[in-house]
Amino acid sequence: MKLADLTTPALVVDARVFEDNISAMARALPGRRLRPHVKAHKCTALAARQAQRGHRGFTCATIREMEGMAAAGLGEDLLLANEVVDARRLGAIDARVTLAVDSEATVDAAADGGVREVLIDVNVGLPRCGCPPEAAGRLADAARARGLEVRGVMGYEGHLMLQGDARERERGVSDSMEKLLASHRDVGGEVISAGGTGTYAMNRVATEIQAGSYALMDTAYSALELPFRPALTLLARVISVSPDYAVADCGLKALGMDHGNPHIADARVWFCSDEHVTFAPESPVAVGDAIRVWPAHVDPTLAYHERLHIADGETVIDHWPVDLRGW
Ligand SMILES: Cc1ncc(COP(=O)(O)O)c(C=O)c1O
Repeated sequence: MKLADLTTPALVVDARVFEDNISAMARALPGRRLRPHVKAHKCTALAARQAQRGHRGFTCATIREMEGMAAAGLGEDLLLANEVVDARRLGAIDARVTLAVDSEATVDAAADGGVREVLIDVNVGLPRCGCPPEAAGRLADAARARGLEVRGVMGYEGHLMLQGDARERERGVSDSMEKLLASHRDVGGEVISAGGTGTYAMNRVATEIQAGSYALMDTAYSALELPFRPALTLLARVISVSPDYAVADCGLKALGMDHGNPHIADARVWFCSDEHVTFAPESPVAVGDAIRVWPAHVDPTLAYHERLHIADGETVIDHWPVDLRGW
């Protein structure tokens, strides 16, 4: 099958660029130093390639991702880096399951749901989940009192991932990790889990890095100086041409837009609507032309699609289901 035969919009992965990206990361963070985050791709076939590179533990964001990874035989060491109020489905998974907790209520949910191991999730600067650093030790005591094994701490410095100035980013990471280290002294355990694609090379405190986007990349991360190249594009077709602009058949329902407009080579993107991208091409395009659209944010883009088409040049060599969607 050729790319030209695909129904558009279709997500296409450049097989060689993808292989280069996962090789580069496996060299930088071999084996257990990386706990790849599957939320960036929601695809067990892709996770299996990461496991082949030696990464046996994975990070997940949803219970569905945890269940799907276990069912795919990738459950050696799964971390749900997120809080849940009902952990019964996690307790039923046949895999090593570790759950993030940041309150007495989520500790109770873990214990009541049959989860055995937890990480204390610490707020290191991103106003999202995570307990205050000074509360981590107390929470670890509460977890141990409920019979849970506390493996250590996690603290996601997500507010720094896309900081364009690398020195600023590094300074921020160092401040955040000081907080996480202080919490770890109070909590104990072997694990300090943190980091992502933007900070993996500068986070020297974490025992494991939770990066995910590095495998496929997007235009937001491509703006940073990272050794990973964009492997993911959305194949679309021009469906209408006007004197000043053209329209292709992909829009808000095919692209994660929270990091801004997608990129189209040799064109200026005006805006996206539900099923359309309107753009001004530098040279003329015709109805029926195939174009490549580069998503700005990989995670939500993947969640809109049922499969990834793996390509070697213009040839489609495989199809990988995006099988970890839903909750
Ligand atoms: C808990 C957590 N860890 C790590 C990451 C890093 O992922 P990425 O490498 O895609 O930036 C994220 C992304 O949102 C996250 O939510």
